[in-house]
Amino acid sequence: MTTDQVKPLARLPWFQVRLPRARGDFTWIYLWGAPLRVSHWVAALSLVALFGTGIFISQPLWVTSGEASSHFLMGRFRFAHFLAGTFLVMAGIIRVYWLFAGNEFERWPALWPFTRRNIRAMFLMLKSYATIDPKIQPHFVGHNPLAQVAYSSIYVGTTIMICTGFAMYGQSNPGGFFYTAFAWVPAILGGLQNVRVVHHLFSWLYPIFFSIHIYLVIRSDYLERGGVVSSMFTGGTYVSSHDEFEDCDLGDHPSVPWHTGEHPTWVKPQ
Ligand code: HEM
Repeated sequence: MTTDQVKPLARLPWFQVRLPRARGDFTWIYLWGAPLRVSHWVAALSLVALFGTGIFISQPLWVTSGEASSHFLMGRFRFAHFLAGTFLVMAGIIRVYWLFAGNEFERWPALWPFTRRNIRAMFLMLKSYATIDPKIQPHFVGHNPLAQVAYSSIYVGTTIMICTGFAMYGQSNPGGFFYTAFAWVPAILGGLQNVRVVHHLFSWLYPIFFSIHIYLVIRSDYLERGGVVSSMFTGGTYVSSHDEFEDCDLGDHPSVPWHTGEHPTWVKPQ
């Protein structure tokens, strides 16, 4: 392949030299169990639906004429919101089960990666993102600790959304199950209006998180060649067989050597 045929990005001199491991020995390693992957995608779809319908509930973008009972527009959006909320809770139940039944990358302790070594790795990750220099990135087989902190924070944020959501939902039936089970939420937050404000403010976490998350997984796929996007479908990721990893020894996990040829976008540095 000649330089003319390569993709424009790979033609930039600084990109050519920094593109790591364009060819070589990789190891395929199975990381993410089916329950985790299913809960990931159910939660992702539910969250998109929840944010969209939630924003409509707070500020309807369009109004319809006539009696509400003849079109029931807001009612339909609210129904979609509560249905997506139910799917989100189901995804949460699967994830909580997998916090106990999953492997070491999926279990409870993985959610709290604050060891001295990991904190150092977080700074290196930040530096690598800020300087767009993948060479200084520490190697992890599972999530790097910075990503893990982001995911754990989203779990906390989502728990807050579910509790405030069900506290509001319960108001339609005072004395009923949801009203009683979530009565502590308005009590802690100082009233229903504050519950609504917290529910609204926290909802903006999701578009912010989605933008950063999607950018970083695509960046990681392109620079590290690990197939991180497809790992959420297949459960497996590719790592260089010659790297040392902060979070595991490759030999301790089910893994398959995977030798690749030259990558089509790779150009030998001059
Ligand atoms: C993380 C996911 C969620 C997001 C992003 C989200 C977003 C929103 C937003 C933006 C609003 C409008 C608040 C306002 O009036 O200013 C809202 C309202 C509401 N949400 Fe959620 N929500 C989520 C999860 C849930 C869940 C799990 C439930 C549980 C049933 C729920 C129940 C409600 C209720 C009852 C309302 C008020 C509806 C009304 O006033 O008619 N939400 N949501």
